[in-house]
Amino acid sequence: MNLEEIKERGIAGIKEAKTFEELEAARTWSVGRNGVLTALLRSLADMPIEERRKIGPAAGVLRTELEKLLKRKKEELVAKNEGERLFDVTKPGKKASLGHLHPLTRIDAEVRAIFSSLNFSVLEGPEVESEYYNFDALNIPEGHPARDMWDTFWLRQNETPNSQLQIPNKSQFQNSKYGKLLMRTHTSPMQIRYMESHNPPFQIIVPGRTFRYEATDASHEINFYQVEGLMVGRDVTLANFKFIIETFFKKMFGENITFRFRPSYFPFVEPGVEVDVKIAGGKWLEVMGAGMVHRNVFNAVRYNPDEVQGFAFGVGLDRLAMIKYGIPDIRLFYSGDLRFTNQF
Ligand code: PHE
Repeated sequence: MNLEEIKERGIAGIKEAKTFEELEAARTWSVGRNGVLTALLRSLADMPIEERRKIGPAAGVLRTELEKLLKRKKEELVAKNEGERLFDVTKPGKKASLGHLHPLTRIDAEVRAIFSSLNFSVLEGPEVESEYYNFDALNIPEGHPARDMWDTFWLRQNETPNSQLQIPNKSQFQNSKYGKLLMRTHTSPMQIRYMESHNPPFQIIVPGRTFRYEATDASHEINFYQVEGLMVGRDVTLANFKFIIETFFKKMFGENITFRFRPSYFPFVEPGVEVDVKIAGGKWLEVMGAGMVHRNVFNAVRYNPDEVQGFAFGVGLDRLAMIKYGIPDIRLFYSGDLRFTNQF
């Protein structure tokens, strides 16, 4: 291909290019490393000297010209693109996908925040417990029919518990006083653990995971979450409990909530109550057990039951989340189904 042809077709190719790809093709064809102009310059060496003198400089001039045109065209395309595409403010944006907090995590955080604002301390306890803390010290001795209220996962007693399980004080469990190991069936054992090492007055909550050996259905899971509450002092009464719990419900569910106490039985309280809540227009739903701490519980931690008194409560976190978000089946929380989780 001679210089004239290269010039004609090279310039046309650049002019006609409408996209960066077409412009790049025109560049490769003309001045690219394997392009026609480069090939011509390489072939100069085989030409007679007069031709070489003529074509050599002319080819150099053409190369500079084509490169200038390429550069200008590229700037044109960039300007056009920015106008048309890069800055089209009417185009919908791309939505960044952030993670979601699990509904139970949200409720847990809310419960902690509300009780903290009421001056309660927040603590946690072990999920693997001993029979003593889970039952005996809570006035549920072996053989007591009330043990049937908590279907229990017992651990194989001769095995060293998995190091991942939280056991705060392993040596405690070597002492036979503490009995067999189990997965805690409620957060109430932390009442005992806390009172063993603290003196009243105090007010605490203990959020945590609990386990029951039972068949699962829409309202039962083998593991779920509770929040234990305990307030003890010289003259803490059920009236104090009523105030605390009313404040809690109103902050959690809004002013439209009503609640009621029903008489109930738990071995570690006397009297015992069950608390139901109702959101305007809905029906009564049971959310917690509560009552005045039983004398035998105080005796177990060497408090004098004639000098101190207080209330305890245990609320199901899953239950609160189901009510707050209108979730019909507790098993959804543990399904790992993103279609569920992504809604929160
Ligand atoms: N621990 C009880 C349960 O899991 C709830 C409860 C806690 C009741 C504290 C009274 C006082 O069923």
